[in-house]
Amino acid sequence: MSLQIPVKIQKLVQYLESENEISEKDLLNSIKCLDITISDVGDYLSFNHSINESYGRSVIYESSKVEVVVMSWNRGDYTSIHDHGYAQWGAVYAFGNLLNSYFKIENNTLKKLSETILEKGEIAIIDNSSIHQMGNPYNKPAISLHVYYTNKNVKSVTGEARNFDLYSDTVYKANGGAFLDIPDKDVVSKEKCPKFNNKVYESYIKILQQYLNKHSYNNLSGRLKTYAYA
Ligand SMILES: [Fe+2]
Repeated sequence: MSLQIPVKIQKLVQYLESENEISEKDLLNSIKCLDITISDVGDYLSFNHSINESYGRSVIYESSKVEVVVMSWNRGDYTSIHDHGYAQWGAVYAFGNLLNSYFKIENNTLKKLSETILEKGEIAIIDNSSIHQMGNPYNKPAISLHVYYTNKNVKSVTGEARNFDLYSDTVYKANGGAFLDIPDKDVVSKEKCPKFNNKVYESYIKILQQYLNKHSYNNLSGRLKTYAYA
């Protein structure tokens, strides 16, 4: 059964679908003026997400131009380190505090740029070059609304997003969510990871280990199983 698209999201989608080009400011303003609340997206919460997904991800709307997703974050839920595929712009509206770390690739090396708290009510803007990792290290569960836009007429706005798995030293280009354990069905291609220093590796592994500790290793599918038993 497909859920109804919330009225405020319908309004946002109509606007984004009708524009041939939007700026960072247009996207920011269009979300600000929605005055969105948790009850608007209440049907899309997914705190009971599958253990193979490292956070809850519910797609409200997707087309060749616009993608709107609600994420549900239990304590310890994190994304991979990822970019956003074909999206030109993205915006994350936080209904609760989330940790947001930005990275960049310079001289074929993945470097951490910053680690900030995306506070309740704030909007983080993402562009086509953004690489980040989001998660919830806090005691309170959190929810966020993610909106992505492109006018490149693609199959999937965030399709072929790069997920940097430092454990296997591999970049997985994948469709679907930016999970810590990308399911094989979502992987489009693989390539070698850029270099990274020990500090970046250790903080990634700490998050990965926390994710593994939360679950029964027997239930893990895919490549992380080898890590769990290593
Ligand atoms: Fe992201």
